[in-house]
Amino acid sequence: MREERPIIALDFPSFEQVKAFLGLFPSDESLYVKVGMELYYAVGPEMITYIKNLGHSIFLDLKLHDIPNTVESAMRVLAGLGVDMTNVHAAGGVEMMRAAKAGLGEEIKLLAVTQLTSTSEEQMQEYQNIQSSLRDSVLHYAQKTYEAGLDGVVCSAQEAAAIKQATAPDFICLTPGIRPQGAAVGDQKRVVTPGDAYQIGSDYIVVGRPITQAADPVTAYRTIYKEWNNKIQSP
Ligand code: C5P
Repeated sequence: MREERPIIALDFPSFEQVKAFLGLFPSDESLYVKVGMELYYAVGPEMITYIKNLGHSIFLDLKLHDIPNTVESAMRVLAGLGVDMTNVHAAGGVEMMRAAKAGLGEEIKLLAVTQLTSTSEEQMQEYQNIQSSLRDSVLHYAQKTYEAGLDGVVCSAQEAAAIKQATAPDFICLTPGIRPQGAAVGDQKRVVTPGDAYQIGSDYIVVGRPITQAADPVTAYRTIYKEWNNKIQSP
């Protein structure tokens, strides 16, 4: 299940910026990119068509969460765009997740977000009124996601081993919050290096600013690629 290409988070606000960024790479190189809410809502489905036509793989990160029927219909539309992977909130329930999978079909990977990494344990207990540890809630949602027949979850690298133990070894753990040694952490709180993610057993890593904001994005991507594939050690 492991994907060799680090997924590049295309957190840009406009089509022009995406075009300029992707234009830095050799035209015959297939990348794996993540399109999130900002870009998708700003540009629309044409953004997906454009990226697909360049031969890249796409993780569409829209985190759907609604009644099962609405999510199923929306997923049918997203499947028609030709994305490779997308996601929902596990909080929507097993029925919603099953409906999402039915709408999307078997070919496209479907992940669930458990607890957002911006949610603290205190917030979860107070606001969501969940009386367990954050880690237990993440594991609970991961098990429910597995039960619903989804392919995996978005999680922090620190949680990957426990999630696989609670579900199955081939249950996908996609991990953001990746920073090469010495890189700016930005607003990420708990970060791991690409080499750590490899050791921990992540299946996919998502990397944004260390590549998109680098002086030389292609070189930054190549370095992270090597480290993620265990071809160089973390310094
Ligand atoms: O720039 P950076 O590498 O921090 O970008 C990480 C990407 O992954 C962003 O698009 C962010 O929204 C996303 N993400 C995250 N943490 C999560 C889920 C998604 O950083 N738990």
